[in-house]
Amino acid sequence: MTATLHVQGAPPDSLPPGTPLLQGQFIIDSFLNAGGFGITYLARNSLERRVVLKECYPSTMCCRSQAQVRARTRGQQTEFDVVVRLFGEEARRLAKLDHPNIVGVHDVFEDNGTAYMALDYVEGRDLLDVIETEPMRLEPAAIRAMTQKLLEAVAHVHSHDVLHRDISPDNILLDAENGPILIDFGAARDTARRASRVLSALQVVKDGYSPQEFYLAGAAQSPAGDLYSLAATLYHVLTGEPPVYSHMRLAALAERKPDPYVPLAGRLPGYDGAFLVAIDKALKVFAKDRLQSAEEWLEIIDVTARRRAMTAQVTEDPAVADRIRRLVEDTNAAVRIEQERAAREKAEKARREAEDALAREEARERRRAQAIWEAEEAERALRETEEAEQRRIAAEAEVARLEEEGVEGDETGAAPHGDTASEGPPAKGRAARKARSPGWFSRMWRGRRPVQSAEKIGQMEGYGA
Ligand SMILES: Nc1ncnc2c1ncn2[C@@H]1O[C@H](COP(=O)(O)OP(=O)(O)O)[C@@H](O)[C@H]1O
Ligand SMILES: [Mg+2]
Repeated sequence: MTATLHVQGAPPDSLPPGTPLLQGQFIIDSFLNAGGFGITYLARNSLERRVVLKECYPSTMCCRSQAQVRARTRGQQTEFDVVVRLFGEEARRLAKLDHPNIVGVHDVFEDNGTAYMALDYVEGRDLLDVIETEPMRLEPAAIRAMTQKLLEAVAHVHSHDVLHRDISPDNILLDAENGPILIDFGAARDTARRASRVLSALQVVKDGYSPQEFYLAGAAQSPAGDLYSLAATLYHVLTGEPPVYSHMRLAALAERKPDPYVPLAGRLPGYDGAFLVAIDKALKVFAKDRLQSAEEWLEIIDVTARRRAMTAQVTEDPAVADRIRRLVEDTNAAVRIEQERAAREKAEKARREAEDALAREEARERRRAQAIWEAEEAERALRETEEAEQRRIAAEAEVARLEEEGVEGDETGAAPHGDTASEGPPAKGRAARKARSPGWFSRMWRGRRPVQSAEKIGQMEGYGA
């Protein structure tokens, strides 16, 4: 969301627009957001430039009257002072970070009984907002470039012995060119929480992005924790949701169940296997199994460096040799996963082809059975026709014979059967024979079934072939 759009109902204890700070060097323009530890504002500096101001305001232990901030109770004043001091120290540490992908901290000051830091204003939207509303901005080339820049930023942070501790999609702003800027370092919050009894109950973890050790009070924290959060952020970008929460994975492993994490390797076309393997590796449950540094991660995704490492034959330095060995292992793992995926795809294609061939064979078999049945039917009809023809010939012969007899009877003056020529079976007299012109019997048969059946059989023959 753009900073200006982020304005919602400002809490009553936030500074109202127009409030001057540091003798008018900064003027509050609007409220942006309130977390448990501080309030973020949009402001202007003396040069009328837009800046973002973060106010140290741990709301469970402090309150405001007018602009002034003080501890809620006298007993909490010491703890509150410690938190304000830690906020200032953290801000000064952050101010030393100078990197194009890290928000610039250019002022730290005390006013109103608390501390403030002034940050460069970044024109853009946060990554969570982009994932949800403009995912088409996040195509593979853009994601690869973004990953590279974020890793360089994280490497820079860690090289100054600072941990971010709250890397997540809502703490990365994207400028118009998809350039990512890391904001909202959570390390100060964590230090404050450890230093203060009152703050110890506050949440400094973000489900889905925090590694399991962030949930454990007093657990050791290392750069691998930030890398876990960065990997979880990229996982969200690539799949549309964060990975299974780390504490749930830990619980599953404690119960000797399989890790419910679904790896990326082999799942997403359009990405180099090593790119996905690196994210999977940074997302291991236990810190010791993860990628240990942003540089190591960068080397894995940098194809040229990988090739160099693979072709390097010998080296005197055991640390470098170890690094190369790990790179080669990672690369081999990536290649293996790619090969497995390709083999799975090939097997699936072969199975589909076999199924199609079987279906075609079955259809052919059905057509053949149908044709055989029809041919048999035709043959039977033909047989019947032939028998009928035999009967016809016999009947005609009989007729001829009877007519012969009739002629002989006429000539011998024998009386015809029946009382009159107009009654009974077909008249057999000379007149009747004349009325039925010659050949009537065979005409009655011609053009009927024998011809039809022959044609049909002619058609059938085409089938069986
Ligand atoms: N430097 C900045 N430039 C522009 N917007 C910012 C900047 N810093 C913070 N914001 C906006 O304010 C929101 C809250 O700031 P953030 O530093 O994340 O504080 P928190 O999450 O602790 O409240 C961010 O999500 C972002 O929208
Ligand atoms: Mg934030």
